[in-house]
Amino acid sequence: MKDEGNNIFSIFDEILIKKDKELKLNQKAKVLWLTGLSGSGKTTIAKVVEKVLHEMGFLTQLLDGDNIRAGINNNLGFSDADRQENIRRIAEVSKLFLNCGVITINCFVSPTKEIREQARKIIGEGDFVEIFVDTPLSICELRDTKGLYAKARKGEIKDFTGISAPFEVPESAAIKIKTENKKIEESARELVDYILPLIK
Ligand code: ADX
Repeated sequence: MKDEGNNIFSIFDEILIKKDKELKLNQKAKVLWLTGLSGSGKTTIAKVVEKVLHEMGFLTQLLDGDNIRAGINNNLGFSDADRQENIRRIAEVSKLFLNCGVITINCFVSPTKEIREQARKIIGEGDFVEIFVDTPLSICELRDTKGLYAKARKGEIKDFTGISAPFEVPESAAIKIKTENKKIEESARELVDYILPLIK
């Protein structure tokens, strides 16, 4: 494996760069990384944010856990190692979009500091915008939109984040969106207002 690695000749320095693409698209590319418990509202908020940005003329791509796990990562589960690999691949994919000038809006539980730091490292400090969708476990469990918390409590799903697997609260998030007692549109607006100066 190592020897094969030595036979790889990357041409990243020979192809058009991020700046070229950004100029064409008239935007600055960023990876908006939404982290939070399952059911915290990441994807719901991201969908509204994407629509608003799209209508303003920005080119975006929304990536979400359930979609990615149905496709490119359909061989991964929820052990620590699989989550790490899940996020590693997503970060690499996001970097491709980033270098193409596209703003990605990523919705992944990404439950540990280590996992999020890995993503930050791959994407690059300046382009990684960590967003904590801060919804208490009690509310996520009450909403239980996918019925997964009930299953996890019954022991039908193992390693479920917040119940039988950890969620480490992000301390380095650029912005924290508290969703409790707030309309989806309000949370989305908060996020749009924060990111607009970064992508214009
Ligand atoms: S991550 O931990 O690797 O970042 P990811 O965001 O891709 O997770 O996937 C989380 C989604 O998978 C949840 O929103 C939920 O729908 C589903 N899911 C299924 N099993 C689990 C589990 N054990 N822990 C967390 N989410 C799970």
